Amino acid sequence: MKKIIWLLLTALISFPVIADEGMWLLPLLRQQKFTDMQRLGLKLEDYDIYNPDSSSLKDAVVIFGGGCTGEIVSPDGLLLTNHHCGYSQIQQHSTVEHDYLTDGFWAGSREKELPNPGLTVTFIDAMEDVTAYVLAELAKDTVPNSMNFLSPRYLNNLAKAKVGESFLQNNPGTEVEIRPFYGGNQYYMFTKKIYSDIRLVGAPPSSIGKFGADTDNWMWPRHTGDFSVFRVYADANGNPAPYAETNLPLRPKRWLQISLKGVQANDYAMMMGFPGRTNKYYTSWEVAERRDIDNTVRIDMRELRQQAMLEEMLKDPTVRIQYASKYAGSTNAYKNAIGASWAINKRNFEQVKKTEQDRLIAWSTQYNKPEYIEALQQLQQIVRDRKDLRYRLWMLDEGIMRSIEFVRIPTDTQPLSDALKGKDKKERQAQIDLWEVAYQRFANKDYAPRVDRKIAKIMLKEYRRLIPAQSQPAYFAEIDTKYKGDVDKFIDNLFDKSLFGSTENFHRFLSRPTVKALQEDPMIRFVQSVQDERKALAAALEKFETDFALAHRMYVKGLLEMDKEQMNFPDANFTLRLTYGQVKGYSPRDCDYYGHQTTLEGVMEKEDPTNWEFVVPSKLKELYTAKDYGRYQLPEGKMPVAFAATTHSTGGNSGSPVFNADGQLIGINFDRNWEGVGGDIQYLPDYQRSIIVDIRYVLFIMDKYAGAGYLLDEMDLVE
Ligand code: ARG
Ligand code: GLU
Repeated sequence: MKKIIWLLLTALISFPVIADEGMWLLPLLRQQKFTDMQRLGLKLEDYDIYNPDSSSLKDAVVIFGGGCTGEIVSPDGLLLTNHHCGYSQIQQHSTVEHDYLTDGFWAGSREKELPNPGLTVTFIDAMEDVTAYVLAELAKDTVPNSMNFLSPRYLNNLAKAKVGESFLQNNPGTEVEIRPFYGGNQYYMFTKKIYSDIRLVGAPPSSIGKFGADTDNWMWPRHTGDFSVFRVYADANGNPAPYAETNLPLRPKRWLQISLKGVQANDYAMMMGFPGRTNKYYTSWEVAERRDIDNTVRIDMRELRQQAMLEEMLKDPTVRIQYASKYAGSTNAYKNAIGASWAINKRNFEQVKKTEQDRLIAWSTQYNKPEYIEALQQLQQIVRDRKDLRYRLWMLDEGIMRSIEFVRIPTDTQPLSDALKGKDKKERQAQIDLWEVAYQRFANKDYAPRVDRKIAKIMLKEYRRLIPAQSQPAYFAEIDTKYKGDVDKFIDNLFDKSLFGSTENFHRFLSRPTVKALQEDPMIRFVQSVQDERKALAAALEKFETDFALAHRMYVKGLLEMDKEQMNFPDANFTLRLTYGQVKGYSPRDCDYYGHQTTLEGVMEKEDPTNWEFVVPSKLKELYTAKDYGRYQLPEGKMPVAFAATTHSTGGNSGSPVFNADGQLIGINFDRNWEGVGGDIQYLPDYQRSIIVDIRYVLFIMDKYAGAGYLLDEMDLVE
């Protein structure tokens, strides 16, 4: 008995990583986690998932745009991602007559699929450990304390040198890059193929794709059909090419099979995608810094701004539309910060990280490796030393730069001033035209000066309440010297006098532009002063950055050396990763349990025709009433909508394919519960859930709701 307990204990100790934790690198899967994945139910071989010598599941997983994941689901390049990932493309094609955001869009035929300039889809053709190569190159670097070990420019030049110019010339659309892992202790090279003719194929109405909007964002139970459909096009040779009518649907190396079998509690689930950023290797001091400075400032400042925004949105339907997306963007990171701080306290992340540090200190002492202990001391010192600067930077960013919209007016007055002083009439007109364009970009259709004025007053007052006068942008001194501290009057004056204060002001300026007006413009001077302060703070903080990055690298090196890297995984850095776990509900609090699967019943329970967030489209209600669910329904006759799983995902994993034990697609990841966002610092096995739209709901909406069943014909559906 004693022996068994002892065995169990050592097993626990030698597996520091908890089941389901981890964003694993595919080339290391076999040695690291494959056995555990099989134990949990995976029926594939490791080479089915990742095979450097032939096509595998990973070839169907792509970067969608700049920050999402997508997956290829047909031999004709059909791609699935989230509605919120395709949102700006759907919005760009929308007009008052054809409002695809509100009504949804279905091309109906390939000719009618809509091109999206600027949108790309990136395939990862190859990945390779190049640590030895990079470290050898870095060793030749003679600059002391250089940041080259993290510099994208430096590393990507190494990548190019490694593959050679001719390789890139012979492979159109191919790019190579080297990315640092573990804070710069390991390096991988990625060969990527980037397609740029990506067309919109279909999207549900927002009342399905964004159902629950901000209220339900970061929430489980969830009832959103957060998906959209695109297609990758290539030239006649299957190579990336700019949009051309003659381009053809891509014949991909690999596309996913789609399962109609659905999920049960505790089923194996696995996700591949591009998680953006995590901070697993934070020290205890950084955890506290994150909570007490970053998150606190963000939460407090955004609360004020959002409250003001919401008041105006509720008062005026025009403002509601103008500010909907800004509001959503603001609340998304706000709610994330709340959840992260909640978890930091609830699970005492400070102590968790401190235990880790203490373990390293004890080990380093035993094996005489003082460099790791020094690294920790240095990290502690830097966090202490940068405290005030960091607070001021976050206050400036959240309180002013991200809150007050007019900080985005053009402030480079030099070219126009020069042109006004000069004799060249053409040049003068050219500069005036440029300002006209810049003004239109700033005062666009979504800008309400009235709202900005109100928010500016609120934010500036709070900023001045919290930041000592001598630490504020220099121009703010005028509030006291000229306005007796009256912020309202000060802001009113900016709007009343500045050429950017209103359309009338701007046109008055354009009719008689003078250098003096430019020089004295109070709004321009305000913004220039804020920018100067931002630059000064960033420069002061930069002094700490190199030392911090070097100490962080040393700390992580120590952890890897102590624990051996087998059971570790590097922080997310928007490279391809795999996470696996189980389909599972969770208990958010005592005596409360959320199941793993939501259904259309829940959509109807949430329905509220008076609240835009919870409107249910009538066609969906008809299908619900008729229980017309076809082959997509659950055995008990309900329509599945979303499910939850213990996979370790983060921002960037939106749109990620979720697979069953056979490697078939069962859903598309789109969110996490707010109780789980602390997992970016420390995985939370009992709280953290990925929120995934059930593929059967996706197919049902395409087929029964949108009448786009023809799309299913090109997919591999497995009953
Ligand atoms: N929370 C999800 C993510 O982090 C969804 C965001 C988009 N939805 C929204 N209501 N803002 O990206
Ligand atoms: N919605 C997030 C995204 O756009 C995923 C949610 C998360 O942070 O896990 O990537």
